[in-house]
Amino acid sequence: MAIVALNLKTYEESFQKTKLLEAVAEQETEHELIVCPSLPDSPAFAAEGKEVRLFAQHVDPNGFGAFTGSVPWSAMKRLGFEGSLLNHSEKKIPHNRIRETIENAKEFKIIACADTIEEAKILASFAPWAVAIEPPELIGSGVSVSKAKPEIVKEGVKAIKKANRNVKALVGAGVSTREDFRKSLELGAEGVLLASAFVKAKDPKKWLEEFLEA
Ligand code: G3P
Repeated sequence: MAIVALNLKTYEESFQKTKLLEAVAEQETEHELIVCPSLPDSPAFAAEGKEVRLFAQHVDPNGFGAFTGSVPWSAMKRLGFEGSLLNHSEKKIPHNRIRETIENAKEFKIIACADTIEEAKILASFAPWAVAIEPPELIGSGVSVSKAKPEIVKEGVKAIKKANRNVKALVGAGVSTREDFRKSLELGAEGVLLASAFVKAKDPKKWLEEFLEA
């Protein structure tokens, strides 16, 4: 059983929530499916996607209070979100803020994203729920990290586990086919983080069904 986290980013297609939620909710799979909707669409996903596990794309370390413009993790939790991505390559934040968020949001599952093995090692030492390594140059490329840079998956997983063996090791960037998924798991990853292949698929439900056959 592996984790498959579907980051919807802010692609225009990601706002077709009913289609995407159905695509996920109707899968019969042993894998752990997670959906990360955009912030503007989060309340709608929470209202319509009760049977789907939801993670935010970003949260701030503060809870409720006078924090104008912030995304309080506690507000996302109240909406029904189980956790959040953090420090995605498209939404980088300082490491001290990542640590603070992990410490403050103990009842929230944080998937801390790392661009490199070095960064993955640092983030794993903060003890998030998971660390996802994604080489930025492969994001959205359609060329999977497991194919283009298998050593990053292998060494990255080792580095995460060495820093903290309780942290789940995920990989992402360009993951597009069930072979990419299978290869990622073979190389030691406990799951994948992916976006464009799912969001932009003509038929996301069918695409996911095939993908999960890995
Ligand atoms: O968060 C997942 C993402 O950055 C990878 O994007 O489109 O290469 O699957 P994509």
